[in-house]
Amino acid sequence: MSSFKRHQNTLDTRPPIHREMAQQTLDRGAFKKRITVLAASVPAEKSSPFLKSQELKGSIINIPKTKSIVQDPSDPQKGCCCSGFRSLKADLNEPAQRFLKFHDVATTTQDIDLDYDFWNADEILSAVLPGELLDGAPSGFAATGHIAHLNLNDEYLPYKHVIGQVILDKNKGVKTVVNKLNSIDTKFRFFKMELLAGEPNYVVEHHESNCVFAFDFTKVYWNSRLHTEHDRLVQLFSADDVIADVFAGVGPFALPAAKKGCGVLANDLNPESYKWLSRNIEGNKVQHLVRSFEEDGRDFIKAAARRVWKNPFPEFTPKISKSQTKKGRRALVSEGTRDPAPSSMIDLTSATSAPVHQPTSRRQITHFVMNLPDSAIEFLDAFRGVLAEPELREAYEGKMPMVHCHCFTREVEDQTSAEGDIKQRVEEKLGHVLTDAATFHLVRSVAPGKDMYCISFRLPQEVAFSSP
Ligand SMILES: C[S@@+](CC[C@H](N)C(=O)[O-])C[C@H]1O[C@@H](n2cnc3c(N)ncnc32)[C@H](O)[C@@H]1O
Repeated sequence: MSSFKRHQNTLDTRPPIHREMAQQTLDRGAFKKRITVLAASVPAEKSSPFLKSQELKGSIINIPKTKSIVQDPSDPQKGCCCSGFRSLKADLNEPAQRFLKFHDVATTTQDIDLDYDFWNADEILSAVLPGELLDGAPSGFAATGHIAHLNLNDEYLPYKHVIGQVILDKNKGVKTVVNKLNSIDTKFRFFKMELLAGEPNYVVEHHESNCVFAFDFTKVYWNSRLHTEHDRLVQLFSADDVIADVFAGVGPFALPAAKKGCGVLANDLNPESYKWLSRNIEGNKVQHLVRSFEEDGRDFIKAAARRVWKNPFPEFTPKISKSQTKKGRRALVSEGTRDPAPSSMIDLTSATSAPVHQPTSRRQITHFVMNLPDSAIEFLDAFRGVLAEPELREAYEGKMPMVHCHCFTREVEDQTSAEGDIKQRVEEKLGHVLTDAATFHLVRSVAPGKDMYCISFRLPQEVAFSSP
């Protein structure tokens, strides 16, 4: 049985209205509706070509999640093509009518029973929420692993459990639905949240930037909206860089950077973040490139350069595929090298030579990342004298690391005033005027009148070499 084109006036597939349900429990069984459509009864073997016929093309409707061809109950030998029109003569166009007549096809009506599974979250919510809340009804959500998190406006709070249940029902991967409460843990920045529907299981596995992150969403900071910012900074890094991530969380900068080849010191004062960060380092098999710490950011900044100096990261070595290795060896042989060097010694960036390899370990930090926008600027004074020791000073002279410091500003009128405000606060904390160009990146608007930025600048020698 196939369907004739949907006709807005005659085929109403909207769910039945149950506004009383919004503040109670969701009664899925109450969502039942029978629609009656016009059907053409044709021999079973002809019903499929019939459906595809040019003449009926403009008239066949496709009602999602329902079969177009069903058995004609009055004649088991026949299939039925359903039409949305109740009156064949009034609604079917001329070619369709001629076609049906020509094939001597009898028409009939067909009942289609729709139930809760037929409608999507938007449609169910629009049937239960009060009419005045339909515009902007919260069927959308952000997902982290199996958790859907909503940020419900106050007017939707009386209906939060029904909203949660509908979202749970209608989204396959979702097992838990929470509402983020407006309060955020002031120290470790994780969101307080309440369960709306599903399992009270908050340990998620989230995939991002080719890494897997596991963490307890109720105990650590995670914001999926920062994905682009994580990627942006990681793309700035070269594979042989050494990164010090002062407020690392569970590793969304640190792990993708290590996957790229960077050596990383990753720090977070929240014991839960540190725990999951350490697990994620193992889970992503980057133990050789990421070292984790659980310190106050200020102490970490002071200790980081000395740590890497004393205990350097091994030199960056690009992964060499088997085919690259073969190519390199072939190139050497064809150049007349009778006894090609072992593949580990071949410099594949120039397959025509085999230089003697001098390993140089990585002893200097090239980038500091400071994503604690509420107060990261306050930590900048920790850089004073951080490279004052003679051997560090000598090593870093002319090769100062970049600092990427996230912050909020309330100067949102225009970019110039935002930059002026941020630069002034940064300089105040450093105790030094930034003479090299700093760059400013608008990460996102977090609230009306409040923007998040990242300022990137080269750490001034005058600050890092001064007496601590
Ligand atoms: C905004 S989150 C950023 C986490 C991660 N870098 C990201 O992009 O998702 C800031 C992190 O700083 C940590 N933190 C807060 N105060 C800290 C401090 N004084 N020292 C070190 N880490 C701190 C928090 O636990 C939190 O994980």
